[in-house]
Amino acid sequence: MATQLIQRETEATSTGLLSFEDATRVRRSIRGFLDKPVPDSVLREVLEDAQYAPSNCNTQPWNTHVVCGEKLKQLSRVLHAKNDAGEFTPDFSFDVNDFYGEYRERNNALGKAYYEAMNVMREDKEARHRAGAMNYSFFNAPQAAFLFMPSFGDNVRVAGDMGMYGQTFLLSLAARGLGGIPQTALGFFAGTIREFLGIPDDLKLLFGISFGYPDDDAPGNRVRMDRVPLDTSVTFHA
Ligand SMILES: Cc1cc2nc3c(=O)[nH]c(=O)nc-3n(C[C@H](O)[C@H](O)[C@H](O)COP(=O)(O)O)c2cc1C
Repeated sequence: MATQLIQRETEATSTGLLSFEDATRVRRSIRGFLDKPVPDSVLREVLEDAQYAPSNCNTQPWNTHVVCGEKLKQLSRVLHAKNDAGEFTPDFSFDVNDFYGEYRERNNALGKAYYEAMNVMREDKEARHRAGAMNYSFFNAPQAAFLFMPSFGDNVRVAGDMGMYGQTFLLSLAARGLGGIPQTALGFFAGTIREFLGIPDDLKLLFGISFGYPDDDAPGNRVRMDRVPLDTSVTFHA
């Protein structure tokens, strides 16, 4: 069943949506989707929910571009070609080597979980490249949202706003038995995506979200990332 991955663990409320607690707990990054688009009416509800995200000084900086159908397939081909050629055009720098200590360990745990799920051996570079490149097939999602933003100063605050918008979007999907995955990997090709969609240069791409109906049988959906205990992350002062 299409929505089983999420709904088997929880009950929908009388509104047909999961409760807040269930939605936050079942939401996880979905790395395999069914070939079945989310109906426009449902997509509009999700996008409406995301509009209610807070933003620094009420700037509401999100400029969301939703791509589907043949256009998404074309974009996928372009992104695979650019990725294979190593022609990156990011708006924001990113280096995984910046992570240190426990942050590096958590990132390593994700890599291990993903490659194990995909049955990829650590030393098999070609297979790792292919598994990573699933980002550019949108993990087979029939739809993707590209979260563009204006650039203000060092962009730290606007990036925070985009994160809040993204999480509201993801929770709204989860509450409906749908799934999504935020993807920094799409931001590596910001310039290419901007050109492909005809978006002006003053809008920057932080990340995108592929979304749709989770595919229970996709290997990528075997990944489960635990959370550290609350008291590792939170300090109480009185
Ligand atoms: C802003 C952001 C960007 C991300 N980029 C990617 C990505 O490019 N590819 C990917 O497979 N996962 C990506 N993720 C998903 C994270 O790996 C995932 O959130 C983390 O491992 C925790 O797992 P969970 O989302 O299943 O709880 C991203 C998450 C966030 C919040």
